[in-house]
Amino acid sequence: MAEFNIHRFLELAGGVRIDDLDWALCRRIGVSDVEERILKYMGDTESHTIIYMRDLLAGHSTRDPEITSFLSAWVYEELCHGRAISRLLAESGRPEEADRYTRVTEGSSLREIVEAALSQGAAYLTPRFIALHMTWGAINEATAAAAYQTLERRTANPVLAKLLNRMARQERRHFSFYWHQAKKRMENDRIARALVSFGIKHFWTPVGSGVGGGDNMGFLAAHLFPDEETMVPLKQAERSIQDLPGMEWFTMLTTASRQVAANYIAIHGPARFVTNDAQAAEALAVAG
Ligand SMILES: [Fe+2]
Ligand SMILES: [Fe+2]
Repeated sequence: MAEFNIHRFLELAGGVRIDDLDWALCRRIGVSDVEERILKYMGDTESHTIIYMRDLLAGHSTRDPEITSFLSAWVYEELCHGRAISRLLAESGRPEEADRYTRVTEGSSLREIVEAALSQGAAYLTPRFIALHMTWGAINEATAAAAYQTLERRTANPVLAKLLNRMARQERRHFSFYWHQAKKRMENDRIARALVSFGIKHFWTPVGSGVGGGDNMGFLAAHLFPDEETMVPLKQAERSIQDLPGMEWFTMLTTASRQVAANYIAIHGPARFVTNDAQAAEALAVAG
């Protein structure tokens, strides 16, 4: 994997471009109910990046200028992802509630609050804790990129597909930062490797599971990753984590996805991924 260059990243950093998107076409095609729910879940996760950053910015990581520089630009890019998704939903005739951010934040579980406190405390004890945060971040970024890539391939709305493609590119750059940070902190440090494996095995849950709620995650997994073929980007994300020193064992992404999807289907019945094919065919025929 190409080395990560923080200077290059900061030069390229910025909000995902949306001003050149064909919003008129987006309005004519819209998104399906299934896509709306998936996008809201993704948007909630993006908008809450600042809350995750509070947990990352603790202890020894605050003394590392590369980490603090990265996080400054990263949190803005993620905020813009949330705003871009909100705009797309509004243009598709499915605007989000005005108080959505506040309501979703209030919905944070006690487990999350306790974990954040423990994580912050542990971050002061040992600089090795950064390796865990960085691995965690790499997993989340790789998951976000995989989810965007999968939805991009499956949606009938080309404007949404273009936006997802742009966001997935930024997620891959974020991934690169976390991955290289994790690697350099684990490759010559047996204790860091043990700490990371322990932390991920015992505490990791899929990105957004706190803000999005378990049922929304099951909904996303059941609709986006129903079989081995649709899971290919997720498997690639998982393999990239297995390339980290000491992480060869990591299969939690696909395992968690299969499990939450199965739970969802057991409760709600089969999941059918619906896209606005008819609206897209009509709008694109008119557009010539
Ligand atoms: Fe993002
Ligand atoms: Fe990201």
